[in-house]
Amino acid sequence: MYAKIQETAEWLKNRLSTKPETAIVLGTGLGKLADEIEVNDRIPYSEIPNFPISTVEGHSGCLLVGKLGGKDILAMQGRFHFYEGYSMKEVTFPIRVMYQLGIKTLFVSNAAGGTNPDFEIGDLMIITDHINFFPEHPLRGKNIEPGPRFPDMSEAYNKELIHLADQIAEEKGIKVQHGVYLGTQGPTFETPAEYRMFGRLGADSVGMSTVPEVIVANHCGMRVFGVSIITDLGVEGKIVEVSHEEVQKAANAVQPLMADIMREMIRRS
Ligand code: HPA
Repeated sequence: MYAKIQETAEWLKNRLSTKPETAIVLGTGLGKLADEIEVNDRIPYSEIPNFPISTVEGHSGCLLVGKLGGKDILAMQGRFHFYEGYSMKEVTFPIRVMYQLGIKTLFVSNAAGGTNPDFEIGDLMIITDHINFFPEHPLRGKNIEPGPRFPDMSEAYNKELIHLADQIAEEKGIKVQHGVYLGTQGPTFETPAEYRMFGRLGADSVGMSTVPEVIVANHCGMRVFGVSIITDLGVEGKIVEVSHEEVQKAANAVQPLMADIMREMIRRS
């Protein structure tokens, strides 16, 4: 695996004309932030050696290189999910490559179900912490140096970046929630009993991604900032049928606000 990471990183280093230190992973229905990027290079995942290929509608599967908020950035338009059948090593492969490219700060976004009764559809939730509910750990197996065998996770989501996001949201008059994201394998959305269980376990939002990438980013020593867009509610009395299309539609509506915050964070950080 390490040799493949190196090979892919070398290929990309030769291809890229900039050396970004910030990367963004765009989740379901959130690929539109890509429109805000002054793109210099758009590389389909299928062209990148060793890269898995994204299979789900709404994930176009491109690495974008360009400028956002006046800074050089790298963006993943579409991510790899465990439910697609990829191993955890594949799901987190791009993060390992990013580290080799010199990425120091990672922004992640996702669509998620809200389990906090105070949340509404269309809320932006700044992720303050997570619960790993995946059945396999992304760091299982031989440790990839220089990350420690037993990584600390006491601040998986960088507090300074959270503070900066709060400041920007307040300046712009954008309402934000804060909470714990629980990552679970999917591909089923939750039953009412599962939503209730996750809420009781301490989750404010539930989704099928993000946690593996954030664990690996922390293992690599990156600073992480994450946002959930609440696209449906797993709250007793408010649970209705959910579909991927509805999730995308709800995420679409909130994208500009999320983009606004992230662009300004990148400009200032
Ligand atoms: N559960 C899991 N993943 C999701 C949800 C949900 O309710 N909404 C969007 N992604």
